[in-house]
Parts: sequence; C-alpha cells; structure tokens
Amino acid sequence: MPPIEHGGIMPPPDKTTILQQGPICCLEMGDAKAGIDYKISLEESSTAPRPDQDPVPQDFHRIRRLPPYVFEEVNRLKTEARSRGRDVIDFGMGNPDLPTPKHIVDKLIETVQKPSTHRYSASRGIKGLRRAQAAYYERRFGVRLNPETQVIATLGSKEGFANLAQAITAPGDVILVPNPTYPIHQFGFIISGGTIRHLPVAPTSEFLSCLDKAMRFSVPKPIALVLNYPSNPTALVADLDFYKEIISYAKRHDLIVISDLAYADIYFDDKPPPSILQVPGAIDIAVEFTSMSKTFSMPGWRLGFAVGNERLIAALARVKSYLDYGAFTPIQVAAAAALNGPEDCIDEARKTYQKRRDILVQSFAHAGWEIPSPPATMFAWAPLPERFAHLGSLRFSKLLLEKADIAVSPGIGFGEFGEGYVRLALVENPQRIRQAARNLKRFLADGDETGHNVVQITS
Ligand SMILES: Cc1ncc(COP(=O)(O)O)c(C=O)c1O
Repeated sequence: MPPIEHGGIMPPPDKTTILQQGPICCLEMGDAKAGIDYKISLEESSTAPRPDQDPVPQDFHRIRRLPPYVFEEVNRLKTEARSRGRDVIDFGMGNPDLPTPKHIVDKLIETVQKPSTHRYSASRGIKGLRRAQAAYYERRFGVRLNPETQVIATLGSKEGFANLAQAITAPGDVILVPNPTYPIHQFGFIISGGTIRHLPVAPTSEFLSCLDKAMRFSVPKPIALVLNYPSNPTALVADLDFYKEIISYAKRHDLIVISDLAYADIYFDDKPPPSILQVPGAIDIAVEFTSMSKTFSMPGWRLGFAVGNERLIAALARVKSYLDYGAFTPIQVAAAAALNGPEDCIDEARKTYQKRRDILVQSFAHAGWEIPSPPATMFAWAPLPERFAHLGSLRFSKLLLEKADIAVSPGIGFGEFGEGYVRLALVENPQRIRQAARNLKRFLADGDETGHNVVQITS
C-alpha cells in the first residue's frame, strides 16, 4: 500500500488519538503545539460529547416536524387488549385482508425460479410493467400514455408520493393539501421542507372558492395542489366536471396537480371514479398515483405507479434513481400479469367490500349508530354518535375499544378537520362485522358516555 501523503500536516499518533475522540477534526493544525490546541478545542466545543452525554441528539430537525402517529396509541391499546385475551374486531387500519389472486401469486413463483431475476431491477420499473400500466389507463379511462416517458413504477404509491414531494419541493414552498386526508399527502411535503395550507375535502363550489382564496392570499404562491378522490378517509368522490374546473384553474395559475387515485377500482353501485387525466390537457400539469395494493389486494408487495406529466415523472425518476433499484423483478413481472390479466378478481374484491359495507351500515344502524354509506374506498367515515361527541375522536376510539372490543381510527389522526369522526376500514368479514354490531348495541345500552373508567386515557 503506498504511504498516505498529508503534506507534512499529519499529527503524531498521540494527537490522532485525541482527534478520534470527538467530532473536531483539524488535521491542518498539526504542528508541535497542536496537541494542546486539539485539547482546548475539544473541551470548549459545545458539540463535543461529555462523558455523561449521549453523542446522539435527542431530536432532529425533520423528526421534530413529524408528530407521533396518532394511530399508534390506539394500536398500542389494541395490542394490549388482545394480550389480555380480548377478541378485538379490527376496523382500524386500511390493510386489505383479501388474498392476492392465485394467478398473480403463481406468476411470482414461476418468475422467482429464474436466477436472472435476482439481480437489481430497473428503478423506473421494467418495460413490460410500464406498458401494462399504460394499457390499463387506456382500457379503464381512455387515457393514452407513453410508457417510456409518462409512466413510472414505484415501491407502493406512498413511496412514490413522498419522493415526488422530495423531487419538486424547495424549502418553504407552499402546498395545498386537503384536510382530513391520508397522512403522507401532508407529511410527504413537510419532510421535504414544504409548508402546508389546508383545503376542505368535499369536491364542491366551496372547494373552488377556498382554492382561489388560498392562491390569492398565500405567500409565496402555492406550487402544487394535492387531490385524493375517492378520498381516504372521507370516501368522497369527485366527478369529471370538478376535475375540469380544477385543471382549468390550475393552468391559469401555474399550479401542479397531484392526484392520488389509490381507490380507482374500489367503488360501489357501478359508478367508477374518473381519472384527472381524462380532462383534455391535464397531462400538461398533472400527475396521478395508483396502487396495486387495493385493486389487486397486493398491499405487502409494495407496488404502485405515477403517470402523467413528463417533467414530473422525470423528476421523480431522477430522485428514485439515487434511492432504489426498483421493486424485485418477480414482483414487477407478477404485477404486469395482474394488469394484463383477467379482471374478475377485481369485480370479486369490489363485491366483497360492497357486501361488508352494506352489512356494516345496516347492522350498526340497527345497533343505534347511523353511518353514511360510502360510495367508494374500503372505509366508512362515521360521525361520532351524538352522545359521545364531547369526548372527541381519540377518546371515543379508546372507549369503543375498551368497552365494545371494536378498533377504529380516530378522525383527528387524518388532520384537525377530521375531529368529530372515526374511520372504519372494511377489513373484517360479515360474521365479525355482525359481532361488532352486537358488541356496539350492548355498549350503547350500557349508558356509559364518559369513558371515566377507561384505562390509560391520556388526552
Ligand atoms: C389514499 C391512499 N393513497 C395511498 C395509499 C398507499 O398505498 P400503497 O400501498 O400503494 O403505498 C393508501 C393506503 O392506504 C391510501 O389510502
């Protein structure tokens, strides 16, 4: 090994020892007196660890901006209740419970046998997968996409969304985000240094006037608008006319539009939700995310897509090219088989969720809790029963868990305007839903409206 040259400023071994103890590394100070200098530097430096100090800071700039997940507390209580032997009926997390269709699993198994698929894959997604997604958009929405430039595969739509935020946000940029909403819509941008201005969720004329107000009174001018229909958690759906108004407004005000269409195929009563890219010219300013998690019951596989504007897709592709090598090739091949394959599995999943929705709405109403019937998604967005409204959504969720063995997500976890609601995910089978309704009926008859004797209420 050739000798390391330090231009005569390499400190003697004893000084090197001192340097390695702390973060101050001033090699160029290494002359005869330098040993003393290092020592002084180390003692005076506020960043140097003292023997009684942990060298790792207690918090970090980005972490300070990420509040603890509200759902964590309910999840913890759920786990505790289960460990006490309680049979908790879990409507908490939107984690699809249906098995991935067999032909998709079979394709994965077949592909994984080929050693050539074990190498790093393509960060943007293999060509066959991007083509399959383009074909899906043409079939489902009548939207033609160039798979080379207008389609990218992501490690789930959540990852894609967060990395698009990373790609397009400068510190302090203002982003318009609905509230309540799926947390990454807001926190993807907060992690990226952006500032959030909230808009209501309902796709009405009030939304458009709030949007206009936000554009006129925000400084600096917002750079992007996030939309999510069908909405998690509210299940609200937008129509094409609403999207036309948004695109027309956004074009006039140089606003990027990011649409999250994760529930593209989980809709009821034969009313498929549209894609924003169906609006002529939307591709000039819009990008849209879809997910394999819901449509094909593949949540653990981690595969989603962004499609749309070429510059936005290229920005996302650039960031991702530094971060990942793409999903495991057999997963991508199986996902392409899913998109190119039979659609009866999607109809089946839709029917299953619709049946659960109907049973939930009917049986809970019968028990005394009226919940609006969601037109899409796998969620019911339920106003707290009037008697419990004073508790707020977090305390009510805890009460429901403790007294009725029913786990739900408190609305406050989706943003301040989610207060007064809880979200129920349709991830339990009809029998369990009916059991939950029976538990609910007993709980409501009990008359305890305070939660005073529910353990561990901290807020
Ligand atoms: C609105 C919305 N977008 C994105 C996601 C994340 O989906 P994926 O599994 O593709 O990351 C979810 C998951 O619940 C969601 O509800």
